Amino acid sequence: MTIFLRSFPNCHPCFVRIESSIQPRLFQRGPLSKVSALYPGSFDPPTNGHLDLIERGARIFEELVVGILRNSEKIPMFSLAERLEMLKTLTAHLKNVRIESFHGLMVEYAKSIHATCVLRGIRAVSDYEYELQMALMNRKLEPTLETVFMMPADKYSYVSSRLVREVAQAGGPVKGLVPEVVEQKLREKLEPAYRFHDEMQKASPGASDSRGTTRKGKKKI
Ligand code: PNS
Repeated sequence: MTIFLRSFPNCHPCFVRIESSIQPRLFQRGPLSKVSALYPGSFDPPTNGHLDLIERGARIFEELVVGILRNSEKIPMFSLAERLEMLKTLTAHLKNVRIESFHGLMVEYAKSIHATCVLRGIRAVSDYEYELQMALMNRKLEPTLETVFMMPADKYSYVSSRLVREVAQAGGPVKGLVPEVVEQKLREKLEPAYRFHDEMQKASPGASDSRGTTRKGKKKI
């Protein structure tokens, strides 16, 4: 193979001919349409922000694997089986999306499923520092794996699983923050909290119940 180099900044520009036996370097990654990506997370529970990001990812990657972390250190609100089921239901319309779970190092799991890219969402500047740290650590662990950041719709920029759990645990309304199937599951799981919240609200006229409606049934703005 012949390579021409145009270099030597302090001399006359010239061309140097180098004979090389090196094969042309194949691109390790093709265009995005050839990229298989992993979207890892806890998804406890999946929010509308997660779903928005999955839909965006599914549009640009050939294949998107949503990987739910099986974390033995944290006690999740939803079991792994519940999160798998919810995410499968929510993404059933996306043919290039697969829902799986993993444990251990994310980079090792990414490698095992031949993902060359990791998708993560950034909602606000506050996410950036943690995400940067994680992306750089993952790059140190596996330099060939690229992290790609996408922003969910701005209407979800404040939505997080942690805050959804907090609101739901106090029996508060989560409509619009999570998909309906997740809202339903939260109501089932936290039934006493919702009942208590609604009873307390009944005592104060005009207050909204956990569905975000007033006692007279009008939507509260
Ligand atoms: O939804 P989350 O909780 O923000 O997701 C965090 C997650 C699961 C992506 C991260 O904790 C992770 O990748 N854990 C797996 C263990 C690992 O690889 N740790 C090194 C990350 S730098």
